Amino acid sequence: MEIPKVKIPIQEISLEKNIKLFIKREDLIHPQISGNKYWKLFYNINNYLETQPKNPLIITFGGAYSNHISAVSALGNLSGIKTLGIIRGEELEQKWRDNPTLVFAKRNGMNLKFVTREEYRHKDKLTEFLQQEFPESLIIPEGGTNKNAVQGVKMMLNNDTKDFDYLCTAVGTGGTLAGISEFCEENQKVIGFKVVEDSSLENKISELTSKQNFHLTDAAFGGYGKINDENIRFINDFKVKFDIPLEPVYTGKMMQKLFEMIDTDYFPEGSKILCFHTGGLQGIEGANLLLEKQNRNLII
Ligand SMILES: Cc1ncc(COP(=O)(O)O)c(C=O)c1O
Repeated sequence: MEIPKVKIPIQEISLEKNIKLFIKREDLIHPQISGNKYWKLFYNINNYLETQPKNPLIITFGGAYSNHISAVSALGNLSGIKTLGIIRGEELEQKWRDNPTLVFAKRNGMNLKFVTREEYRHKDKLTEFLQQEFPESLIIPEGGTNKNAVQGVKMMLNNDTKDFDYLCTAVGTGGTLAGISEFCEENQKVIGFKVVEDSSLENKISELTSKQNFHLTDAAFGGYGKINDENIRFINDFKVKFDIPLEPVYTGKMMQKLFEMIDTDYFPEGSKILCFHTGGLQGIEGANLLLEKQNRNLII
């Protein structure tokens, strides 16, 4: 993978308050390996390829609509590396054709292995087994989060991001937050918007960063992947007003929660806030299919 030559734009989101809010459009970094996925994979892949495996194979884990699975499959396709996705939910074996993320992954040549939720919960065992079965393979954890990912996230920070008081990101497995926290400026505060209730998250993040400059906020809105109508309205209004697309699992929830925090004066007057658009827009198609079935408003 290469460091893209284009500069990632930082756009202002104008507010009526005396708060400056900006969004860094990491979603624009690559059409298929978007946002934080690009950076979390960067060193994982490059370090692996440096070992010159004879038959490179990348194995990774994810749920039915996983942005990470989508990105790894695209990377495999673009670089001619075989990929295997271990997918949560054995029922999807019959239904993957109804799921745009899995169809995309298959089209990219990814082999999909569907496992029960119980098996998926014991990913460590599965990883051990797979590493024995495919000794030359690179096994990347769920969400791409590991120490290499944290190093890659450093590249989301540069001179343009130094001048902000707060840095915000959505949090799934925590690698992105850990990287921002580890490599941001001493005076910057980091806010992670949790989209999944996981009591071990804070510890996991602390294992990946030596810093304690981060604060985790709940933006779960009823649980991981749950889409609520108010959030859809927010995402659609946001798109109309600022011409920036958000998706309902991560960035939409982060931004809605952030707006609530701004409204309730969490941030002192004059604060400069930067949030990272971590991509994942591929998930909108799958979300809309579900919403359509439920006769609900769609994401535009
Ligand atoms: C769009 C999007 N935003 C945020 C995250 C959260 O990143 P992390 O798992 O590193 O916490 C993810 C997951 O990779 C994601 O796909």
